[in-house]
Amino acid sequence: MSPKPIRKAVFPVAGLGTRFLPATKAVPKEMLPVVDRPLIQYAVDEAREAGIEQMIFVTGRGKSAIEDHFDIAFELEKTMSERGKDLSVLGPTRLGPGNCAYVRQQEPLGLGHAIWCARAIVGDEPFAIFLPDELMVAREGGTGCMKQMVDAYSEVGGNLISVLEVPMAQVSSYGVIAPGAQDGALTEVTGLVEKPPVAEAPSNKILSGRYILQPEVMRVLERQGKGAGGEIQLTDAMAQMIGQQPFHAVTFDGARYDCGSKTGFVEATLAIALSRPDMGDAVRAIALDLLK
Ligand code: UTP
Repeated sequence: MSPKPIRKAVFPVAGLGTRFLPATKAVPKEMLPVVDRPLIQYAVDEAREAGIEQMIFVTGRGKSAIEDHFDIAFELEKTMSERGKDLSVLGPTRLGPGNCAYVRQQEPLGLGHAIWCARAIVGDEPFAIFLPDELMVAREGGTGCMKQMVDAYSEVGGNLISVLEVPMAQVSSYGVIAPGAQDGALTEVTGLVEKPPVAEAPSNKILSGRYILQPEVMRVLERQGKGAGGEIQLTDAMAQMIGQQPFHAVTFDGARYDCGSKTGFVEATLAIALSRPDMGDAVRAIALDLLK
């Protein structure tokens, strides 16, 4: 029997974004643009490409720009039409009626808590999670990260997380998997630990911000206490599901940029600008000039 399809995606966007202050004092981190699309737009586009229809945003105070971004911008669109301007530059920013939902996480108690806040809308079906500050870019002609995960999920079912390999010295900033049997891009997950000291890390394969989880995780989160950094950690809840349900990691065939960090954000901006046919050559010339 094929596993239940993934129809819903949760986007936790209620964090404080302290690493980007003062930029994020009044603008949500997820609305910072990489070239001309906000981070959250890249994540929603990736979800759509994977066939996901319903977008659930876990927001907080000061995040209303995200709701406006996916709504109709009546005055803007009317004025642009009257002036004969091309509305296609807005791209697929409108989410259809009933295809998006917003829930509030009243206090930023951690990623696990943010996901738990979406439990009533997720209901009793498997769902995807996107951390929008992890920007996953498909190879030219390839598919996005979530599409690769959904394809793997249709084979193995259960829970899936995306991973990538980093130098061992960096693992203590991330969630890390203990790997079991490997089959191509798919690795069995036998354990998970959040921000381990380097000496105790079970591998250098780190979680990279995309998940497909079974709804039982909500019941685990309900009982979950605080973990690393005093926050309710999604990684700790997932760790408890290992052994109860199938659990696999997918190594993404594509590029990942950690846009939660300033250098990662600059790297993403450069990489995307350089890859764009409308500006790549100009940006390359500027970069070479600056490096002289
Ligand atoms: P981060 O760990 O990057 O935290 O969250 P942050 O608050 O956004 O940023 P810094 O570390 O202060 O700079 C990863 C994702 O999880 C969401 C964030 O909005 C981000 O998309 N998140 C985090 C929540 O929704 N709620 C939380 O309590 C924590």
